[in-house]
Amino acid sequence: MANNIITRTAGNVVEWFNARTPGLLPVYRKHMTEYYAPKNFNFWYYMGSLAMLVLVNQIVTGIFLTMHFKPSAAEAFSSVEYIMRDVEWGWLIRYMHSTGASLFFIVVYLHMFRGLIYGSYQKPRELVWILGMLIYLVLMAEAFMGYVLPWGQMSFWGAKVIISLFGAIPVIGNGLTEWIMGDYLPGDATLNRFFALHVIALPLVLLLLVVLHLGALHEVGSNNPEGVDVKHGPKGNRWSPTAPKDGIPFHPYYTVKDLVGVGFLLIIAAFIIFFIPAVGGWFLEHDNFTEANRLVTPAHIKPVWYYTPYYAMLRVIPQKLIGVIVMFSAIAVLFLVPWLDRGKVKSIKFRGLAYKIAIGIFAFSFIYLGKIGAGPGTDPVETIVGRVLTVLYFGFFIFLWVYTYFGFEKTKPVPERVTTHD
Ligand code: HEM
Repeated sequence: MANNIITRTAGNVVEWFNARTPGLLPVYRKHMTEYYAPKNFNFWYYMGSLAMLVLVNQIVTGIFLTMHFKPSAAEAFSSVEYIMRDVEWGWLIRYMHSTGASLFFIVVYLHMFRGLIYGSYQKPRELVWILGMLIYLVLMAEAFMGYVLPWGQMSFWGAKVIISLFGAIPVIGNGLTEWIMGDYLPGDATLNRFFALHVIALPLVLLLLVVLHLGALHEVGSNNPEGVDVKHGPKGNRWSPTAPKDGIPFHPYYTVKDLVGVGFLLIIAAFIIFFIPAVGGWFLEHDNFTEANRLVTPAHIKPVWYYTPYYAMLRVIPQKLIGVIVMFSAIAVLFLVPWLDRGKVKSIKFRGLAYKIAIGIFAFSFIYLGKIGAGPGTDPVETIVGRVLTVLYFGFFIFLWVYTYFGFEKTKPVPERVTTHD
């Protein structure tokens, strides 16, 4: 009886809205109940929805931090201390935000790696990949500016080192550095503009890009661990005679599955937030618990872990301009992946052994470079290792093109349909 009333009321509410906004229900259906995703999604496919969850967390906790944060060089540091000690639940909000930043990158790196191993960037998903790469760029800018805001030692010196990189550009370099900082050193003007960009401009761009990213994906349909396009397979399933046979409605099937991922992420996040919020200096650096001081340089200036692979490339190269070029190229080359890979199959499952070894070396290089970039950078052996790993990093992309363009790859036969059938 009570159930009946609830169902009827819900139906009436939907009808009421539908009569006034008839365009909304079809959008909901297109992206949820009638979006037929391949039925063989695995662990890697959690990351997209988790990235969205973390994005929402960053926005919501960011709004509450903004209510108490003072974006000026004189007050920023103490306003963060105030949030931590005096604002009700302020410590939780701040740690949710700082932990969220690192978790965002963990999730996004796994999400990108999934794209690489399953060839999700290949035709017809090149645009999905490009939009993803733009998200990655904006995310890095967003996190960098956020890190400057608490105005700790590493905020100040990190900003100084990174913004000064623009000084390596011939002719306009120095002017550009000064223009970005609005001063000769990071200062009040820098903090103000970074605050504006961090709390409103970049989040808006991020949200827009995420909408476009998903819009582009839903036009062409999702890839899957087998790299077999379900849209091109036989049609007709128990929900629709025209839907891909190996597709299942995103809602409720994948919304429920994604909830499992959400559970895991929340457990990990809660553990970090409540027990080890600084994660030994990896998520929140020790030096950033001291207020910025332009007269005291920290012993080791280094960015947060998610930038350290690129930072290592910069540091192991002796000439600054070349280092800057290599560092930016390491990101730029990822944009080209859809056109570098001329392979006939998408998924790593059916690719040649050399590809599997190469992508393994690539992942190892990136992680080990991250370790080098996080260290003091004084060990000459490590510098040499860093150079070798930088070559291996770029080597992967060259390999990918040569290996697939000249037809060296011996692939395994790809099944007609995804192999998990009912
Ligand atoms: C805020 C960051 C991001 C969010 C919220 C996001 C969200 C999503 C979601 C919800 C999906 C569908 C579910 C899934 O396949 O996991 C997806 C798919 C995809 N994303 Fe992202 N994404 C983000 C960043 C990126 C980045 C940085 C890249 C790569 C450069 C990327 C590349 C892709 C690709 C290639 C797919 C299609 C995967 C497939 O069908 O196999 N995304 N994204």
